[in-house]
Amino acid sequence: MINPVYSPDSNRYDNGMKYRRCGRSGILLPEISLGLWHNFGDVNTFANSQAMAHYAFDKGITHFDLANNYGPSYGSAEETFGMIMKKSFMPYRDELFISTKAGHDMWPGPYGEWGSRKYLMNSLDQSLRRMSLDYVDIFYSHRYDPETPLEETLQTLVDIVRQGKALYAGISKYPKEAAGFAYQYLEERDVHCLLYQGRYNIFNREPEEEGILQQARENGTGFIAFSPLAQGLLTNRYLNGIPEDSRIAKGGFLKKEALTGDTLGKIKALNELAIRRGQTLAEMSLAWVLKDEMVTSVIIGASSVAQLTDNLKGIENTAFAPEEIEAINQILK
Ligand SMILES: NC(=O)c1ccc[n+]([C@@H]2O[C@H](COP(=O)([O-])OP(=O)(O)OC[C@H]3O[C@@H](n4cnc5c(N)ncnc54)[C@H](OP(=O)(O)O)[C@@H]3O)[C@@H](O)[C@H]2O)c1
Repeated sequence: MINPVYSPDSNRYDNGMKYRRCGRSGILLPEISLGLWHNFGDVNTFANSQAMAHYAFDKGITHFDLANNYGPSYGSAEETFGMIMKKSFMPYRDELFISTKAGHDMWPGPYGEWGSRKYLMNSLDQSLRRMSLDYVDIFYSHRYDPETPLEETLQTLVDIVRQGKALYAGISKYPKEAAGFAYQYLEERDVHCLLYQGRYNIFNREPEEEGILQQARENGTGFIAFSPLAQGLLTNRYLNGIPEDSRIAKGGFLKKEALTGDTLGKIKALNELAIRRGQTLAEMSLAWVLKDEMVTSVIIGASSVAQLTDNLKGIENTAFAPEEIEAINQILK
C-alpha cells in the first residue's frame, strides 16, 4: 500500500502545548522541542524517525533541533529531516522553527570543525542542501573555539543572518565570558542573539551555578536546555538494568560507566519522588527544568513515539513545592 499523504492534526495548537517567549524577541517556542541528535540517522529506521516527527508536530512541537554532524553517520539526521520535509512538512514550513549548528567535528582536514568563517559558511550550505531548505530559523555556533578570534566566528553569524540563510543566530556551550562578548558583539551589529543552548538537568546545574541563565536573561536572550533527561538517566529506562535497545547499550556518548551504583541509587530515589507527585521520572525531570521561567524550552531526545507521549505530559505540572525542591537537592548530595 502507498503511504498516505501526511496531514497534520488540525488541533495541533490546542493539544496542550504551551509556548514561551524567547528572551527579548518576537519568537515563541514550545516548552518541549525535539532534538535529532540520536535516532534520526541512517542507522535508524526511517519509519520510526518519521512517526516521531509527525507525532511531535501534531502535538504542537514546532521546534526541531539539528546540527551538521547528527546521525550517525554525520549529516544523516539532516538528510532524514530533509526527507521528512519533502514528504510531509514542506506545506507547513512557515509553522516550523528549525535549527542547525556547526562547531564540532564534521569533515576531515583543517576546515571541518571549530569556528572559522570558512567552516561555518561551508557547513551551513551543506546543511541547507541536506535538509532541502532555503534557510534555517536559527544557526548556532555549536561550541566556543579558543583558537579562532571570536570576532571571526561572530561576524560570520552576522553575515549568515544578513544573507538570509538563517533568520536568527545563537550560541551553544559558550563559557560565560565568551557569551557576554558574543551578546554584545551581535547586538552592536543589530543581530540580537536569540538563544543560548546549554546542558541543564537535575544532575547538571552548571547554567544555574555559573550564572549563564541569569546572563542570558539580562541580555534578552532565551535559554534552551539540551539533554534535560541526562540522555535517559533521568527516566525509568535504567531502573532495572540496561535494556538492549537503550542508548547505553548502543554504546555512544552515554557510557555504562555513567550508571554507577551511586547514580542508580539517586535515580531510584528521584523516581519515588516523581511517583509521589503523580508523574513518571521523565515527566518530573522535564518539569524540573521548566519550573524556571528563565528557561524557554527543553530539547528532548526520544527513540519512540511512546516516549514522546510520556514526555509531553511533563508540561502539565511544572510547579514544585519548596519541600519537593529541597527533597531533590537532598537526594543529589
Ligand atoms: N548543543 C549541544 O551541544 C547539544 C548536545 C547534546 C544534545 N543537544 C540537543 O538536545 C537534544 C536532546 O538531547 P538528548 O537526546 O541527550 O536528550 P534527553 O532528552 O536528555 O535524552 C533522550 C533519551 O532519553 C531516553 N528517553 C527519552 N524519553 C524517555 C522516556 N519518557 N522514558 C524513558 N526513556 C526516555 C531515550 O533514550 P533511549 O534511546 O535509550 O530510548 C532518549 O533517546 C539533542 O537531540 C540535540 O538536539 C545539543
